[in-house]
Amino acid sequence: MDEIRVLISEEELDKRIRELGAEISRDYAGKKLHLISVLKGGVFFTCELAKRITIPVTIDFMCVSSYGNETSSSGVVNIVKDLEENIVGKDVMVIEDIVDSGRTLSYLMKILKEREPNTLALCTLLDKPMRRTHPVRVDYTGFDVPDEFIVGYGLDYAQKYRNLPFIGVIES
Ligand code: IMP
Ligand code: MG
Repeated sequence: MDEIRVLISEEELDKRIRELGAEISRDYAGKKLHLISVLKGGVFFTCELAKRITIPVTIDFMCVSSYGNETSSSGVVNIVKDLEENIVGKDVMVIEDIVDSGRTLSYLMKILKEREPNTLALCTLLDKPMRRTHPVRVDYTGFDVPDEFIVGYGLDYAQKYRNLPFIGVIES
């Protein structure tokens, strides 16, 4: 078993996600919001956030993966699972677990924008701003985190630890 140090507790996550839900509900008052949850890591955060949003919400899922060449500057990612519904004219918000280099999200936001939503926003639970190599506009952030390998609340290490109810760091 790996040693895991708690970085953000379950209580802190719950409090911050409530705040984000209230803020988003205010910002989109009178509208409907179409959430796009990025599989697999974004799903845990999506469920918790969606429960705190008080305006009407619909949810779809997308799964993307990089081509494995981490240093690729093209930023092109592979669509493993596409959306089920079209997003033309909708107020769309992408929900992600973490923005790191920004490679995945900069590409995803670009292709979603081409599908002509009314508005397109990005909400991430975690951000590692100092790691950014591909610029991406983040509209809502839960927490900025240091440049450490994070697990829990959807984030995995070799597919493990997604189910931890807190955000942790693996001690090596
Ligand atoms: P990007 O570098 O911004 O494209 O990050 C892409 C993906 O890498 C994220 O959506 C996560 O799935 C994964 N990732 C980045 N940093 C971490 C981390 O600290 N722990 C676990 N997964 C991470
Ligand atoms: Mg991810």
